[in-house]
Amino acid sequence: MAYTDQLLSTPTAASAVLFGIVVMGICIVLRLSHGRRAMQQPPGRAPLAHPGSEKAGGPCVSQEIYKTPTPPPYPDWSVVETKPLPYRAFRYGPKYQMTMGLRTIHPHQWIELDNQFPKYHADKAARIEERGDKCVKTAPEAFDAAIELLEELTDYLPARYPSLYKRTHEGIDNLWSGESFNIVERPLKEDPMAICARLVQDDLAVLLEQPDGQYRLLAGSILLAGFWRLSDKFGMTLSDVHTSGDVPHFREKLETGMNKFFRRMKCDTFHARNNYFFQVDDCLGWSSSMGDEDAQEVVRGTAQKDKAIEHHWFRSERQTLRRLPKTRAVVFTIRTYLVPVTEMAREPYVPGRLASAVRSWDELLSNYKGKEEYGAVLLDYLDEKHKEQVDNGLDLEKEDEVRSYPW
Ligand code: HEM
Repeated sequence: MAYTDQLLSTPTAASAVLFGIVVMGICIVLRLSHGRRAMQQPPGRAPLAHPGSEKAGGPCVSQEIYKTPTPPPYPDWSVVETKPLPYRAFRYGPKYQMTMGLRTIHPHQWIELDNQFPKYHADKAARIEERGDKCVKTAPEAFDAAIELLEELTDYLPARYPSLYKRTHEGIDNLWSGESFNIVERPLKEDPMAICARLVQDDLAVLLEQPDGQYRLLAGSILLAGFWRLSDKFGMTLSDVHTSGDVPHFREKLETGMNKFFRRMKCDTFHARNNYFFQVDDCLGWSSSMGDEDAQEVVRGTAQKDKAIEHHWFRSERQTLRRLPKTRAVVFTIRTYLVPVTEMAREPYVPGRLASAVRSWDELLSNYKGKEEYGAVLLDYLDEKHKEQVDNGLDLEKEDEVRSYPW
């Protein structure tokens, strides 16, 4: 008797086979319905490319890859007319609070461009030419992340700034400069971070999570940062990037929260923070008062002391943070604004609030920001301009009605 016939000859064996058939049937039905669900995914969402990557790169929205929403055009944007946004991100004292200072922004607000684009674009091009990989670099393990950033910019910019950019089959065209960028050819014409740099006014940094949970700076185009060099920080962890620059109160006030924040960052939530400094020269790329950009070490406190107020410039940054959906890298954008103090001090409330903010810095922060070199001249001037505004009828009670942070 054949082996199967033998099995079927007993009632127990027959019911076991029957049970097996039922179980198989259930499995087939379940598989079919899963397949149907997969086919019914909303358009624009692909299945997760790397199952298990939730653990490796922090949480994302769900088991599907996030698709950055296409932004609407920036209202009435023009490379000639649109002025830089007037960020005035400083608060009254008496005590300066060292916090991460992050706020959530809409994904549509990721990159801000304005009529200074031509200058930023030219300065960046010159510095890429002169300084090369001291300023622009991608580690081999960050190549995919840099390409993903390039793809995100190539999708975002033509939708947000259609009078400046056009999406093409191979990449993106700059309608103002006449440049055409091919982002699909291999090898690319240049480092992907250099192409990214030419598309926006921001400096860009890409950080990747390592097996030990630390984020490392592994790709960047840092061309207009003024006082720090990519070549010093490349490959460092987030903590080392900050401690090597003696960022005041970093260990006790920022480090733990920042690392936690990085690990938990989600693809669909974009963040921004602002900061500010002063410099006594008008150089965007590298503040000449910091000394030689190629010196062995960058030393603060070398600027000429008590320069006339006409040489005082307010340098501020609008930074954003987001996680890229496919490679799960974190992108940090740094947009620098440089404004003469004499111009800003004409704005209502600004000299009074700025003077109060500068007086609220403790000793560590004052040293970090180089106050010794410009503080006396700056505060005298701001006090005088504040007094003029009050004498001319400025209503100090009304400030909260006409502005709110970071403006
Ligand atoms: C949660 C995110 C972050 C926070 C809260 C933060 C905070 C700070 C603070 C408070 C400073 C001192 C100057 C200022 O007021 O801005 C600083 C400096 C700096 N940060 Fe960050 N940061 C963040 C992310 C990053 C990332 C992703 C990079 C990657 C490149 C970075 C690079 C730097 C550098 C290079 C400096 C200057 C250090 C120096 O003076 O040498 N930061 N950061």
